Amino acid sequence: MKTLFVMDPLDRINVAGDSTYMLMLEARRRGWPVWMCTPDALFVQGAETWGRLTPVEVQRGPVPFVPGPAEELPLSGFDVVWMRKDPPFDMAYIFSTYLLSQLPPRVLVLNRPDSIRSNNEKLFTLRFPQLITPTLISREVKRIKQFAADAPERVVLKPWDGNGGRGVLVTRHGDPNLGSMIELLTGEERHFIIAQHYIPEITKGDKRIILVDGEPRGWMLRVPNPSDNRGNMHAGATVEACPLSARDQEVCASIGPVLRELGLLFVGIDMIGDFLTEINVTSPTGIQEINRLMGTQLEVEVTDAVLARVQALG
Ligand SMILES: Nc1ncnc2c1ncn2[C@@H]1O[C@H](COP(=O)(O)OP(=O)(O)O)[C@@H](O)[C@H]1O
Ligand SMILES: [Mg+2]
Repeated sequence: MKTLFVMDPLDRINVAGDSTYMLMLEARRRGWPVWMCTPDALFVQGAETWGRLTPVEVQRGPVPFVPGPAEELPLSGFDVVWMRKDPPFDMAYIFSTYLLSQLPPRVLVLNRPDSIRSNNEKLFTLRFPQLITPTLISREVKRIKQFAADAPERVVLKPWDGNGGRGVLVTRHGDPNLGSMIELLTGEERHFIIAQHYIPEITKGDKRIILVDGEPRGWMLRVPNPSDNRGNMHAGATVEACPLSARDQEVCASIGPVLRELGLLFVGIDMIGDFLTEINVTSPTGIQEINRLMGTQLEVEVTDAVLARVQALG
């Protein structure tokens, strides 16, 4: 199972919390050759996608990565290619998914690049209207102001392509900053933003549920620091163990088959109270935190699912 990870540079990986590192470790534990490259090292020559690729030994301890000499190779020689580049989800990101979509069907590319490209992490939730809180996508100041005025109480404004809580703003009725907030976030109506009813249960936490090939396998609560609205670890949230509620199970049962169908094998969904807020498909994280809280080995489960998918390819 020769495996390539398209990812950020090795020296930028925080091995104490990184999920890609866990997947690499597990591949090596199984004796699979592991290679890596950054997205900018991909290229197409003739009709084939190639890369300047680095073989890498991956281990626990003070020297987690031992890279070998880089080589220019076609990606068609791999069994598994993981796209694990962190956001921003920008045009360079999108273009690298095009290059990965070119690979022959015998190469398993995860998550499926066409599905990453066509399912924005926040808009994806709109496919499940019964699972979400009322939401508006727009770049018009007037329309967004009206949505906020019509909402029962607070409204959240956020960029469509945010992550780690970047740009998330909460506004109340009568907020004299509202017009200015919308202008700033939309860049004077140039960029679409998301306006959403505020879910008060956020103070109890933002739940991350990891689905492996459509099945919930691990979960945790990220509890916002009392001084910040955002349940992101980047914004000082702390993690806690939690149960998987009946509602969470219902949500997973609705989404799981869709994820499986779309080749989205390793996904992290976010739930605030009873509502689905995000379906993270590009490079979800949480393996290490959930393993510590639940005693799971999610990297083993993900890798088992990879193997089952490769075997199904024949
Ligand atoms: N509808 C909402 N109600 C309450 N808080 C929200 C809502 N949407 C987002 N937030 C807050 O903002 C944080 C980040 O929002 P999210 O949609 O997950 O974007 P990101 O991709 O930046 O993580 C959440 O953890 C939560 O604290
Ligand atoms: Mg989030």
